[in-house]
Amino acid sequence: MRAPSPLRRFATLLALVVTGFPLVQAIAPAPALALENGLARTPPMGFNNWNSTHCRADFTETMIKGIADIFVAKGLKDVGYTYVNIDDCWALPSRNPSGDLVPDPARFPGGIKALADYVHAKGLKFGLYTSAGTKTCNTAGFPGGLGHEQQDANLFASWGVDYLKYDNCNNQGVDAQQRYTAMRDALAKSGRPIVYSICEWGQSKPWTWAAPVGNLWRTTGDISDKWSSMIGKAQANRGLAQYGGPGHWNDPDMLEVGNGGMTAAEYRTHFSLWAMMAAPLLIGSDLRKVSDDDFAILKNADVIALDQDVLGKQATVLGANAGLVVYSKVLANGDRAVALSNETGATATIATTAAATGIGGAPAYTLKDLWSKASRTTTGSISASVPSHATVLYRVSRAGSRYEAESATLSAGGTVDANHAGFSGTGFANGVNAVGSYVEWQVPGPASALTFGYANGTAAARPVDVSVDGVVVATGVPFPATGAWTTWSTVTKAVSLASGQHTVRLTATTADGPANLDYLDVQR
Ligand code: GCU
Repeated sequence: MRAPSPLRRFATLLALVVTGFPLVQAIAPAPALALENGLARTPPMGFNNWNSTHCRADFTETMIKGIADIFVAKGLKDVGYTYVNIDDCWALPSRNPSGDLVPDPARFPGGIKALADYVHAKGLKFGLYTSAGTKTCNTAGFPGGLGHEQQDANLFASWGVDYLKYDNCNNQGVDAQQRYTAMRDALAKSGRPIVYSICEWGQSKPWTWAAPVGNLWRTTGDISDKWSSMIGKAQANRGLAQYGGPGHWNDPDMLEVGNGGMTAAEYRTHFSLWAMMAAPLLIGSDLRKVSDDDFAILKNADVIALDQDVLGKQATVLGANAGLVVYSKVLANGDRAVALSNETGATATIATTAAATGIGGAPAYTLKDLWSKASRTTTGSISASVPSHATVLYRVSRAGSRYEAESATLSAGGTVDANHAGFSGTGFANGVNAVGSYVEWQVPGPASALTFGYANGTAAARPVDVSVDGVVVATGVPFPATGAWTTWSTVTKAVSLASGQHTVRLTATTADGPANLDYLDVQR
């Protein structure tokens, strides 16, 4: 890993001191795993004009200022969109006598620095573009950064640039790692924190080498505003989960939402999959013309939260069967996001299970549909009928927790047995056959219901009093015969437990004692 610039090293030290970390951490060598410039800890969110304007004449200072205005006015800034970035064709075809790039005075009469200042004044950040070649991609032949890395990086820093997209055109066959590393080092030496976006189109598998070089790297060629292109980018990008993470992201290219070439369902799929894949969310439509429906897609805070989850895990593919694809993303709070995505031309049922996501056992799971906002519970099945080209997106959380009877407290003489099959965990509680015999659990609230797993192989019910924190909340609750000691059933009691620790006790009210008790499930 390269040595950080003195300025950046100082900033890191300062940050560590301010946040109370021991100073030694700041000077211990960090593993060379990623470009540790402290930026893009979650995938960058913002705007880039390319998908809507390319180099057309409507790509101007007026447009970009308008976008910055809309970021604030329409609440995009509030949901996390930060970077207002401009793409190719901002410069004149020739450098000035000092060798500096010159903003095109027709498009950007105020110059780039003034535009960056305008964007900064709104509490946003500003991004710029050039190419790791002798010229950028446009046929007009705008000058590129190859061989001019430090001069250009210094100029960008002096203008207040916060983000650089570095393209791959006219690269003269120079090794990609060499070209992109040269600009990385130049940006570092510029002294300004600049998110570094490697736009190498996935040609030399940048995910295998670019983590210590850039904050994000394109994994594919350019997206276009149609289903086949968009889903092709998702397909190419979705197998690369192991390479992305905080500060270093796979980039399947910018968003097309709002550009008009896909259906609403297709745009929701686009946005869902980009969020699942922890992709940069760079709006690529002219927000001055975007419909309210497309704004609603771009501003879906539940979906953005998946993308911006601090754990920074890209979704993995749990299954892809003839165009029916299940993605699962691990989230910082232990939840999972699950996308059921239908790439086919007909409605289909797509299914997985909570267990397949690795979320862990629970008596029930809450599935929140992040587009319809409806929630439902399931004991494990995650399934939906998904229209053609649509994606059903769930946030899956454990709705409760199980407390096994083998970890409960039993009144004197009670035993934990395992001689009747079918129990959960490693055994069940066999309370003494006597009035007053009890089984007691310590459980955390809040809780809305308690479900007891049990078996009763006799012909008569085994009633108990249920108490919470020493107060009887239900008397003589029957635990009916289940037909055999190996036949397990449940009894559920609605409760209203506040957060904090609680004692739940079942006390036998007859000389038969309690039924054999397997577990207590606490529903949230
Ligand atoms: C049988 C059964 C036990 C059960 C007991 C009871 O002995 O094997 O598991 O606890 O009956 O009547 O409580």
